[in-house]
Amino acid sequence: MPADLLDRLRDRLVESDYSIDGVRERLGDVAATALAREELVPALRATRDRDALGVLIRLWWLGVPVPAADVPLDVARLVETGLLVAEADGVRATVHLQPWETGGYVVSDRKVRPGDPALRHDHVVGAGGASANLAQLVSRRPVERALDLGTGCGVQVLHLAGRAERIVATDVNPRAVELAGLSWRLSGVGDVDARAGSMFEPVEGERFDLVVSNPPFVISPRERLTYRESGFEADGFCRDLLRLAPRYLAPGGRCQVLASWLHVKGEDWRDRVGGWLAGSGCDGWAVQREAQDPAEYVELWLRDAAEQGTPAYRERYDEWLGWLESMDVTGIGFGWITLHDSGALDPVIRVEELTQKVELPVGGYVDDVLAAIAAAHRVSDEELMAACLSVPDGVLEERIGPPGADDPGQIVLRQIRGLRRTTSVGTVEAALAGVCDGGLPLRPLLAAIAELTGEEPYGTPPESIRALVAEGFLAL
Ligand SMILES: C[S@@+](CC[C@H](N)C(=O)[O-])C[C@H]1O[C@@H](n2cnc3c(N)ncnc32)[C@H](O)[C@@H]1O
Repeated sequence: MPADLLDRLRDRLVESDYSIDGVRERLGDVAATALAREELVPALRATRDRDALGVLIRLWWLGVPVPAADVPLDVARLVETGLLVAEADGVRATVHLQPWETGGYVVSDRKVRPGDPALRHDHVVGAGGASANLAQLVSRRPVERALDLGTGCGVQVLHLAGRAERIVATDVNPRAVELAGLSWRLSGVGDVDARAGSMFEPVEGERFDLVVSNPPFVISPRERLTYRESGFEADGFCRDLLRLAPRYLAPGGRCQVLASWLHVKGEDWRDRVGGWLAGSGCDGWAVQREAQDPAEYVELWLRDAAEQGTPAYRERYDEWLGWLESMDVTGIGFGWITLHDSGALDPVIRVEELTQKVELPVGGYVDDVLAAIAAAHRVSDEELMAACLSVPDGVLEERIGPPGADDPGQIVLRQIRGLRRTTSVGTVEAALAGVCDGGLPLRPLLAAIAELTGEEPYGTPPESIRALVAEGFLAL
């Protein structure tokens, strides 16, 4: 793709305010939410004026033909390069080109909408909810070498740029590598080392301070669409990605990925996911953000490929559901997994469910979350007893009970920041939270509380204190 053409395209997009804010303002809430339901009409109405921004939205975002004379770009050259095609009613874009929250642009294949022809096998999916989900999870710590495995349209690289000195981006799909290159070029991100190949094969023998991946995590009977299905058995891609990742981490490195896993009859999903991380030599934190039953899951992904209402819909639905049933699958979980090569001899693995809204971006405090989990695991009883614990900002106490009662039925500690966890505590923990201001060690505080409550003095800290440290209700 000629560099001068891309430079001019980029300049024109910027000048015309083809940005997240510009598009949002032009479309307004009604058209934007209608688009999220795949309804184009309100957006077409909002872009009826033949001004530059409206035409660019129609061309690159909505994917409809526009009169060539209205396009504020070098149409002939864009047709020559294949980014536009001439049609009877004007020109049409062959790719989807969307502004992204980093201020850059993301190029992918055109969005599929109900009634469109079936997706091609090597379809390159655009940036969406999952992309943003991973981007907000990734630690903001600057790193030297980062790897984006399964780069697709290249969106994660836009987020890594500026935080990583060197970036390698890989994808099994060569078309993805090509379109990602356009995204980076149009976003002014240079020097990305892009390589085609499967899993870690293109980076064999290399090590990274940060590995990120929004992998093809959809669990389906066969690989029909590379962008979401790996061809590995069931949830095997995510499992293998996590089992192999430690080999490619530099000391102190982190791997942060989205993943999906099966819930199988007779097996706790926590054991399944914990088993993927155990033996890695890294500290691991796995979070289930949501779980769906098999029918909901199949419907979601058939809808995602605009297959609802097609003649094959029922057959595919039935086959997919039957396949899940044959493996005794009761549900499918989705969430975040982080590995940290901490160098510790006794790595800690924490697997949990967090379905509440959390403070964004998680990447702004994820290192503190990992540090708290590791500290709670590693601190000895003696060290904990000698530690001056404090209650972090943003932790509140709620007392719940019948009106007028002397004693609350329940005491809850609630975080109004970060992961926004809540936990029910007993009177000892509540009393402790009331006095932990970093001034006195735990031992005399526990002794005073024991005296007040008439309990035996504590020789070792109650396990509940360790749990409160791990979850960030108390800081070491
Ligand atoms: C869900 S998309 C993610 C794209 C992009 N990174 C994002 O965050 O939106 C998954 C990507 O993984 C790629 N992929 C599929 N199988 C792969 C494999 N075996 N090795 C590497 N990449 C693979 C797909 O081609 C696709 O681009």
